[in-house]
Amino acid sequence: MTGIETLQTSFESYFNHRHFPSFPSTLYDPLEEFLSNSGKRIRPVLCLMGNELFGDILQDAYHLAAAVELFHNFTLVHDDIMDKAPLRRGKPTVHSVHGEPTALLGGDVMMVVAYDYLNKVDASHVKKVLHLFNKTAKEVCEGQQLDMDFEKLDLVSLEQYLKMIELKTSVLLASSLQLGAIIGGASEGNQQHLYEFGRNLGIAFQVQDDYLDAFGDPDKFGKQVGGDIQSNKKTFLLIHALETAEGEMLDELHQLIKGHSDEKVEKVLSIYKACGIDRWANALKEQYLQKALTHLDEIAVSKERKTSLVELAYYLIKREK
Ligand code: IPE
Ligand code: IPE
Ligand code: MG
Ligand code: MG
Ligand code: MG
Repeated sequence: MTGIETLQTSFESYFNHRHFPSFPSTLYDPLEEFLSNSGKRIRPVLCLMGNELFGDILQDAYHLAAAVELFHNFTLVHDDIMDKAPLRRGKPTVHSVHGEPTALLGGDVMMVVAYDYLNKVDASHVKKVLHLFNKTAKEVCEGQQLDMDFEKLDLVSLEQYLKMIELKTSVLLASSLQLGAIIGGASEGNQQHLYEFGRNLGIAFQVQDDYLDAFGDPDKFGKQVGGDIQSNKKTFLLIHALETAEGEMLDELHQLIKGHSDEKVEKVLSIYKACGIDRWANALKEQYLQKALTHLDEIAVSKERKTSLVELAYYLIKREK
């Protein structure tokens, strides 16, 4: 098993149990089902790796890993309402099966249970942990709001896009690592470099997410392909195409964005391809991966201890789901 798989398995055996009471089942059963249909468990793995970089993995790292995974799952359930998404992890989304009110409450209660896990952490760390966790949670909300605001704008710059994905996605990856590092007793300087590694890697991770939303294999991806195009998300793909396309192709792209035609997704995809989006996506991911690795280099522990993080970084930008 790779370092990633070992930690995924180890987290799973800690996390795989009921998290909620049985009553009312109309609220809690959908959540148990959602949580047991596990995703990649990246954030908990990052949390454990953040600890492991500085010493043996402590029980508190598992508590924190559970907290970040619950928080992440809460954001997914609410995100699917916001994005009107029909599918998640290969199954119909919570709101589409159980209705938006239950999905809203379910998300809320997952966040509350995340705090129960934070509360298990040794008192000497709680203040720092809560500060980082809460700062991150607010940033995710800010990023999600920008993501929706941008749907209504005609033009968004690459810089604005990068800021938005930093907030909605990358800060949680960065914080997961730092939370583990706090438990591991890392110095302030090492914590900051690890956070920056995660922040840059998280940007590359969301670039890949946006790429897969357009070009993923529906059988592997587990989400509706083309959803971002349908809801006019301002992804790097669209930003790049608007900058690169010329003449008739550019006019067609503007027309397509304005409308909701049946061929919208297919036609926008072919414009993306004509604009050389693959090459561009790879260059953008590579740029942020390299920035991330520079920060990893700066962390004052042996190179051997960093191998699983390097492995994870490559996996995240090449993944198909
Ligand atoms: C999806 O995150 C939401 C984003 C921030 C892109 P993941 O791709 O980590 O989702 P799961 O948990 O593996 O399903
Ligand atoms: C979601 O970004 C980020 C959060 C859930 C905070 P997306 O909307 O791109 O995530 P997916 O693609 O639905 O997983
Ligand atoms: Mg979204
Ligand atoms: Mg979404
Ligand atoms: Mg997405």
